[in-house]
Amino acid sequence: MDSETADRMMAAPWFYEFDLPDGRRTGTYLPEAVRGIHSTRLSMLLDTLDRHRDVVPAAPSVLDLACHEGWFAHHLAARGARVLGLDASGEHIERARLMAQVYGHSDVCFERRDVTRIEPHELGVFDVVLVLGLLYHVENPVGLLRIAHAHTRGVCVLETQVAPGLTGTVDWGSHLYPKAIVGSFAVIDETDQIAEGNPEANIVPISLVPSVETLVLVMQLVGFQRVEVLTPPPGAYEQLAHGKRVMVAGWVDGS
Ligand SMILES: C[S@@+](CC[C@H](N)C(=O)[O-])C[C@H]1O[C@@H](n2cnc3c(N)ncnc32)[C@H](O)[C@@H]1O
Repeated sequence: MDSETADRMMAAPWFYEFDLPDGRRTGTYLPEAVRGIHSTRLSMLLDTLDRHRDVVPAAPSVLDLACHEGWFAHHLAARGARVLGLDASGEHIERARLMAQVYGHSDVCFERRDVTRIEPHELGVFDVVLVLGLLYHVENPVGLLRIAHAHTRGVCVLETQVAPGLTGTVDWGSHLYPKAIVGSFAVIDETDQIAEGNPEANIVPISLVPSVETLVLVMQLVGFQRVEVLTPPPGAYEQLAHGKRVMVAGWVDGS
């Protein structure tokens, strides 16, 4: 990338406020009221990794599914992690790569990919798999959870918005055979977001949002042995504090 392009990109507003080595901070297009979301999620992520040093090495390998501009990837790289970040947006990937140059991070790699189309074992296994802010932007969340599980050696840290849960029964072939609803997904139509060019949206219109109980159940059903709903810290971003978003850790066998 030539320096003029790099300067133009640095001057543009970003999704994240990156603290730059020269003391500057990138401007953000995120509304003031929403900015705390990133620091809350980062502190919950780092706290989880630090609490499980027995499973997560000090310098873990990390797969960041939907890495955006690589803010989480770069924070982990600064602590010694080797990170592969994937995102559907070519612009986000360019920005993540520019930040790698700015920070001098050589153990990070960013590629443009639709992560819903990764084969389950395509990329090998990683100590840590991140699925942050993505699950509620895909039309096949169960498939995404299978992909995440297949790539996890230690822990998958997932963060998502959640929907109210449906309970009750469904007549299973006849009213004589009711079957219990054990989970539910809400349907969200992201057509308007895609038309507006929202850089944080799904890449197809249909998004399915699980309830928290459904998320935990489905993570267990795709193979995570233990699923822990993480407790937000004092002063957490409102959605996490009020249970509208959750961060969970899914542990695989042996961890
Ligand atoms: C709300 S942002 C979350 C970004 C980041 N993980 C975080 O939590 O801050 C959603 C991201 O998902 C990406 N995305 C949406 N659908 C995707 C897909 N099928 N494959 C890869 N990335 C996707 C978008 O480009 C965007 O970067």
